[in-house]
Amino acid sequence: MLVSRRGLRAGTDEHTMVAMTGSRTVLITGGSAGLGRALARHFVIGGDTVYVCGRNEATLAEAIREVPEIRGVRADVSVAGDRIGLLEQVTRDGSLDVLVNNAAIARAHDYTNPFTLASDRAAEELAINLAAPIELTRLFLRWRLESGRAHDPATIAMISSPAGLLPLEANPLYSTTKAGLHSFTLSLRWQLRDTPVTVVEVFPPALATNLTPDLDVPSEADGGPEVIDEVARKTVDAIDAGERVVLPHPQAEALYRSFGRTFDDEMMARINTGAIRRPGWDQE
Ligand SMILES: NC(=O)c1ccc[n+]([C@@H]2O[C@H](COP(=O)([O-])OP(=O)(O)OC[C@H]3O[C@@H](n4cnc5c(N)ncnc54)[C@H](OP(=O)(O)O)[C@@H]3O)[C@@H](O)[C@H]2O)c1
Repeated sequence: MLVSRRGLRAGTDEHTMVAMTGSRTVLITGGSAGLGRALARHFVIGGDTVYVCGRNEATLAEAIREVPEIRGVRADVSVAGDRIGLLEQVTRDGSLDVLVNNAAIARAHDYTNPFTLASDRAAEELAINLAAPIELTRLFLRWRLESGRAHDPATIAMISSPAGLLPLEANPLYSTTKAGLHSFTLSLRWQLRDTPVTVVEVFPPALATNLTPDLDVPSEADGGPEVIDEVARKTVDAIDAGERVVLPHPQAEALYRSFGRTFDDEMMARINTGAIRRPGWDQE
C-alpha cells in the first residue's frame, strides 16, 4: 500500500484536506510499464484514482502487483474500438480529470534496407504514437461536452520526447511521430486557451525502459530505475502545479532549450491569422 502524499500534507488544514484528498481520476495510456508505471505510482501517492492500459495482460498484472491501487484495462490504443471501450470503462463512475497520452513504441527503420522497404511497420508506429493520442484527446473532450463537464478543470498531458525536436536517422518514424505530437500539442493548447483544460507537454530524458528493443541508445544507461522514478515524480508535481511544458531532467531540458520552438501568446495570435476557418466548415 502506498501512502497518499496529498493525504499526509492535508492533515494540517481542514480546507486543504477536502481539496487535496478529493481524488482526481487519471488515465495513463501505456501505464503498465516503464515511465507510465512510474507516473501511475506517483499519481497514486498523490491520492488519485489511476487507470492504466496496455496490450499485454501479464505486464498489466505485474504493474498491479507493484502498485495494487491502480486499475488495469487491457486495451490497444491503436485500435478504435479499444479506445472507445477504454474511455467508457474509465468514465463509468462519471469522472476523468487527467488524460496522460504516454503509450508509444520506437522501432528501427532504414529506407535503404530491403527489410524496411518490404514492410509497413511505419503504420503501427504512426497509429500508436500519433493517431492514438489525437483520437483519445478527441474522445475525452467529446465525453466532457456530452456529460456536461466542459467547465470542469482538466489536464491533457502528452508524453513527448526531445526526439521530436531532432531528426533521428536510426528511428525516423519515432522522431516524425513525436514531432507531429509536439505540433498537435501546440495547436491544441492554443485552441483550448479559453477553456479549463490545461494542455501539458512532457519531455523525458533517455530512460532505460523497454521502448527501444532494436536500437542501442547509449544515453539510456544514465536513465535507470531511480532516474525513471525521479522523472515521474517531477512530472506529476509539475502537472499538479499547472506547468505546461515539463522538463523533468537536465538532459531533456538542455535539448529542449537548444532545439525546441517556443511561441508566446502574441506570436500564436499573429501566426494564426494565416489560416481561418470558413463559415460553414463544420456543416455536412
Ligand atoms: N524511454 C525513453 O528513453 C524515452 C525518452 C523520451 C520520451 N519517452 C516517452 O515516454 C513514454 C513511455 O515510454 P517508455 O520508455 O516507458 O516505454 P516502454 O517501457 O516501452 O513502455 C511503453 C508502455 O506503453 C504500452 N503500449 C505500447 N503500445 C501500446 C498500445 N498500442 N496500446 C496500449 N499500450 C501500449 C506498453 O505496454 P504493452 O506493450 O503491453 O502494450 C507499455 O506499458 C513514451 O511516450 C515515450 O515516447 C521515452
